[in-house]
Amino acid sequence: MSLLEVKSIFKSFGGLQALRDINFSIHQGERVGIIGPNGAGKTTLFNVLSGFYAPDSGSVLLDGHDIRGKKPYQVVNLGLTRTWQLVKPFLGMTVMEAMIVPSFCHRARAIGTSSSRQKEEIVEILTKIGLGNKLWEEVDNLNQSELRLLDISRTMITHPKILLLDEPFSGLSRKETGNISQMILELNRRGLTLVIIEHRLKELMKLIQKVMVMHFGEKIAEGTPTEMVNDPKVIQAYLGERKSELGLA
Ligand SMILES: Nc1ncnc2c1ncn2[C@@H]1O[C@H](COP(=O)(O)OP(=O)(O)OP(=O)(O)O)[C@@H](O)[C@H]1O
Ligand SMILES: [Mg+2]
Repeated sequence: MSLLEVKSIFKSFGGLQALRDINFSIHQGERVGIIGPNGAGKTTLFNVLSGFYAPDSGSVLLDGHDIRGKKPYQVVNLGLTRTWQLVKPFLGMTVMEAMIVPSFCHRARAIGTSSSRQKEEIVEILTKIGLGNKLWEEVDNLNQSELRLLDISRTMITHPKILLLDEPFSGLSRKETGNISQMILELNRRGLTLVIIEHRLKELMKLIQKVMVMHFGEKIAEGTPTEMVNDPKVIQAYLGERKSELGLA
């Protein structure tokens, strides 16, 4: 059975058809990319998958559970967590406090560590991700890269089965992108399924096994990175001249 099964999703905003008949499935342990031009519907798709938007029609099955009518926190409790294209820092808190907030969700309490070990778990996550020396730092003082790392760290507290990352490399240097890539691969080695929206194609393509391409609310192609960069529809809709940058045959 697929971990995520998306069937014929439609979503419109007034007269704008943001998603049109989106179908795909993702298996446990996969690393999947989603690419496409600005406004293609990528973030809207994440909003539907994570319970922030109800689709007009269609269904999303998460590990066999229909998420129809579920609130975002209930979707988190079923094992799907997401990050945001624009980081959502908890300003006014320390890094430690920002990490404690998601630990109140049912899933974290049910399958996370006991409350007495909670601080250790947080320290462990932050150390692994490279924020071990920022525990008592105010979130307001973190730079863009640290905020992205903190967003990913917060998701770990909820022990997701599947993590959706919306442009995790946005605004980061090549070195910082490399660090987050290593982190993503490590999480995947431990069994986490990942779906990643990115415009930084060179970095993304090295990270994923399968990619879906969206354009004007539709999924226009799906395949391996090499298949996608050679697909005439994908080149016309999105890649254009950028194909040569990617270093894929
Ligand atoms: N809440 C909303 N209300 C009205 N229109 C919306 C809303 N959210 C998204 N849209 C529109 O839906 C379309 C798809 O937007 P979406 O943010 O999903 O694109 P995207 O593929 O994530 O683009 P980008 O690469 O720029 O992040 C766009 O035309 C956008 O303006
Ligand atoms: Mg987006």
